[in-house]
Amino acid sequence: MATQKKRNKSRTRPALKKSARKVVKLSSARKAASKKASNGNGLPKPSTKPYGQAGLALQGVRVLDFTHVQSGPTCTQLLAYMGADVIKVERPGGGDITRGQLRDVPNADSLYFTMLNGSKRSITIDSKHPKGMEILNRLIKTCDVLVENFAPGALDRMGLTWEYVHKTNPRMIVASVKGFGPGPYEDCKVYENVAQCAGGAASTTGFREGPPLVTGAQIGDSGTGLHLALGIVSALYQRIRTGRGQKVLCAMQDGVLNLARVKLRDQQRLAHGPLTEYSQYGEGVAFGKAVPRAGNDSGGGQPGWIVKCKGWESDPDAYLYFITQAPVWEAICDVIGEPTWKTDPDFATPKARLPRLKQIFARIEQFTMTMTKFEAMNLFNEHDIPCGPILSMKEIAEEQSLRATGTVVEVDHPTRGKYLTVGNPIKLSDSPADVRRSPLLGEHTDEILKDVLGFKAAEIAEIKASGAISAPEKKEQAA
Ligand code: COA
Repeated sequence: MATQKKRNKSRTRPALKKSARKVVKLSSARKAASKKASNGNGLPKPSTKPYGQAGLALQGVRVLDFTHVQSGPTCTQLLAYMGADVIKVERPGGGDITRGQLRDVPNADSLYFTMLNGSKRSITIDSKHPKGMEILNRLIKTCDVLVENFAPGALDRMGLTWEYVHKTNPRMIVASVKGFGPGPYEDCKVYENVAQCAGGAASTTGFREGPPLVTGAQIGDSGTGLHLALGIVSALYQRIRTGRGQKVLCAMQDGVLNLARVKLRDQQRLAHGPLTEYSQYGEGVAFGKAVPRAGNDSGGGQPGWIVKCKGWESDPDAYLYFITQAPVWEAICDVIGEPTWKTDPDFATPKARLPRLKQIFARIEQFTMTMTKFEAMNLFNEHDIPCGPILSMKEIAEEQSLRATGTVVEVDHPTRGKYLTVGNPIKLSDSPADVRRSPLLGEHTDEILKDVLGFKAAEIAEIKASGAISAPEKKEQAA
């Protein structure tokens, strides 16, 4: 109806002079352009394809993956799961050092490597060989993103400075993980646990009486890889408007601190009095100048603790995390058999409970020790009481619901056979995750040289003879 009215209106519009018509045309074009830029009306029409059949989210994005060990590979594996064509460049001979680290199957790539490099292609290139640099230059021209996590200065020493890469391909996004950002430690090499310590996680993890503790979750490496992936996707989005690439830097110290931000929150709260939700408060232990380690205290305003369940004497994971969430306090009292705590002034309010948390959790534990962690989980959840069983990695590996959602995926590898990997933890409704096995060292060298970089057969033969893509031993044999 509205369209019909518009059409009629334009038909009855009085004739304009030629020059005036030009002005109208120009200004409406400008209006359309600004509309397009401001409200996203420039998007294509919504696809009519069924959800999940309109391609993958990062399809068409090509990544030059110069990463190794864990932090960088975590990032590029996620990009590959999302559909990017990730070309992992490895040193001829050994490749990523993790291929041979913590090996469980002789002569096969380790799980360390295979679980961090799925869905990628591998090309071997000696970046210190002139011919190798020629290949890298072609890759730089054809890729959208270069991701690296070398020690500070290593990329520059290869000759791949930001200025050089940007000049060669102004659209290239150069993304780096480093241990520290600019400052006194910027030149330092960093591994996971160093980052956990420097980012504030270790000083706030563990028990008050014990030393600082690192966590098993790789918040320094995988955590920073995740941050970098977000930076890359944001830079790709900005590039749509600006047409140019940019540098993306994630320092592991910064990534850990971002994940430990609640502890920086508590550091500032300390200036205004004790941290009442820490069990140390109820125990009457004075707070020092810095946020203390809080054992298994809950990080938020709802006190929680780990309690034993049936079988704890022999099973190290027969425990349950229990949260005394205030809105379900009455249900908790009924279930554990302490109905008088509902009205007892010492227990009835969250504030009254704070100094008595140790006593409360001891009573809850008395109750949970009579049942398995799964029985306890089921029972408490019937009453909307938040809790969670402590799951061992064995239980997680066998958990069918995680297989069903693609969070744990079994893939087949030519030399090591079947193995489990962690699939894409980020679920997109229109982009199924592309989770495949990791590549063998240099498995895709030929196809990348030919199909991606356009080298002719004779040129490939020349490259092979030069030693730029093969290990030194082979060079010696050829000589
Ligand atoms: N061809 C030839 N040389 C290659 C190559 C290739 N394809 N790929 C890498 N190299 C060389 C580099 O040029 C560099 O050599 P150079 O030092 O002579 O210039 C070297 O290999 C890379 O070394 P580096 O990154 O220093 O490795 P490392 O094993 O000494 O250190 C880390 C490892 C992880 C400590 C370090 O890379 C680092 O601090 N990275 C940043 C933080 C990070 O990501 N840490 C977490 C890792 S999980």
